[in-house]
Amino acid sequence: MKIVKTVNEVREIIKNWKKQGLSIGFVPTMGYLHEGHQSLIRAAGENDKVVVSIFVNPIQFGPNEDFASYPRDLDRDTEKCNEAGADLIFAPEASEMYEPDFCTFVNMNGPTDELCGKSRPGHFKGVCTVVSKLFNIVTPDKAYFGQKDAQQLAVIRRMTRDLSISTEIVGCPIIREEDGLAKSSRNTYLNDEERKAALVISRSLNEGRKIIESGENDLNKVIGQIKLLIEKEPLAKIDYVKAVNADSIQPINTADGKILIAAAVYIGKTRLIDNFIIERNAADDSNNA
Ligand code: PAF
Repeated sequence: MKIVKTVNEVREIIKNWKKQGLSIGFVPTMGYLHEGHQSLIRAAGENDKVVVSIFVNPIQFGPNEDFASYPRDLDRDTEKCNEAGADLIFAPEASEMYEPDFCTFVNMNGPTDELCGKSRPGHFKGVCTVVSKLFNIVTPDKAYFGQKDAQQLAVIRRMTRDLSISTEIVGCPIIREEDGLAKSSRNTYLNDEERKAALVISRSLNEGRKIIESGENDLNKVIGQIKLLIEKEPLAKIDYVKAVNADSIQPINTADGKILIAAAVYIGKTRLIDNFIIERNAADDSNNA
């Protein structure tokens, strides 16, 4: 496995692979890899070659967010990539990605208006811009994103469609700790007490899922129940709990179609996200009534 830091080096390697007719799978990351990322790298192993980018993208962080403190450890990440079967790591410096007079951005309306797009203004402009750049550098056949960032996955799918990018976007399931907490690089910020408290997120979402499965169609009631459960945990502060259509990320009130129930919750100072997707057909329910 090779580690390179410049765009030119990546392009040279990719050119050679493409000359040999090899297919390329790509996993964009911000590093501090965990089993969630490794599951994406393993999924990308369906291609002949797997490229992983490790880049803490400054332009997707707001001024009061954790860009400076975001965990970084390239040696540890290299091991994790090796273990999972990556062929190439692209780990550029910020100056390699952004010239001092960089001024071209990819912006999106619609799927970015709600959830994290609302709480973190400018975040998806930064994500779309860096992912487009990475796609232009790596030119992958397929790129792999985790369902934990369900809005990000929907946004990237829409961006590739709207901009006629030929890379196929593959969504992969959320990987959880044994007790249910969704794996995240930010879990490392939690102290022992917060780590226990963080479980309230997946537990409350699970309860919400059960309520929908038991036949509740009013998503406002479901969201209300989830919020009540989360609010019982003193260390938790809700940023949002919301029901949206999983593809358009537009708010919905009735359980019909592909429903995304997404939550962002502060545990102490750490903001964690989690979600579930459930499909319902309201027409079936009314036929059975
Ligand atoms: O999901 C992430 O880690 C980042 O948002 C991504 C897609 C690597 C872009 O910086």
